[in-house]
Amino acid sequence: MEIIIKNDYDEICSEAYQIVFQEWQRKNNIVLGLATGRTPLGVYAKLINSYKKGEINFSEARAFSLDEYLGLKEDHPQSFAYYMNKNLYRHIDLKKENIHGLQGLPEDIDEHCRQYEALIKSVGGIDVQILGIGSNGHIGFNEPSSSLASRTRAKTLTKETIEANRGYFRDGEEMPCYSLTMGIGTIMEAKTILVLAFGKNKEDAVVNSVEGPITAAVPASVLQLHPDVKIIIDEDAASRLTRKDYYRWVYNNKKGITQIRSVNKPPVL
Ligand code: F6R
Repeated sequence: MEIIIKNDYDEICSEAYQIVFQEWQRKNNIVLGLATGRTPLGVYAKLINSYKKGEINFSEARAFSLDEYLGLKEDHPQSFAYYMNKNLYRHIDLKKENIHGLQGLPEDIDEHCRQYEALIKSVGGIDVQILGIGSNGHIGFNEPSSSLASRTRAKTLTKETIEANRGYFRDGEEMPCYSLTMGIGTIMEAKTILVLAFGKNKEDAVVNSVEGPITAAVPASVLQLHPDVKIIIDEDAASRLTRKDYYRWVYNNKKGITQIRSVNKPPVL
């Protein structure tokens, strides 16, 4: 795990954007896995901005949504399909046929989930998966107690997740309590995973995921087993981490490793 502590939200988004951009430079047909929610909005804004400036394009790229509310039509303003379209897809040149999402009203839930998994595999898997994290440690809608090997499926949301997202819905509007989500096993197959978090209300989820034991009680803790995961957070979200100085030291001295590789001599720290 690489823990990257930034000064503010904008810096978090710049770091995540740079990683996506570099991967896109290496592989124009990048396969992205994308979360919704408040956290990744700034990254999507940076991708749009960069596209408008002609620095990046998505003509060969593909995108897979991480999850969706079960029971909402695609054009419901709170559906994740709507969110992705509003906050990213309609501003860039991603081809319609390369935009993939879970349906809110599939005819056959299990079959739909199986097909989603098969589709991800058929394009070679997800290159970069962007994740937020719930204050209870959920990733996607894999709530605490989700199997760490789970695949894409229907999940019942916890009351705290429903409450956390209630603000998006109109007063009195019924909140969905079920979702479809990529499983934890599915997420773990992404080649690179970026977990973004900012604000005090994420401090417990972050410390438990990064420095706690691996447990289904904190789904994001399983990311400790992933070979390429970056946790990009602000000071508030990092506030309970006990090894902050070490994480900063590692990050600030990363270039040294590149120097050793290229000139075969130890860097001066
Ligand atoms: C969103 C998702 C969720 C959110 C998490 C954090 O697609 O799957 O896991 O990433 O609930 O939400 P925000 O970013 O709104 O704090």
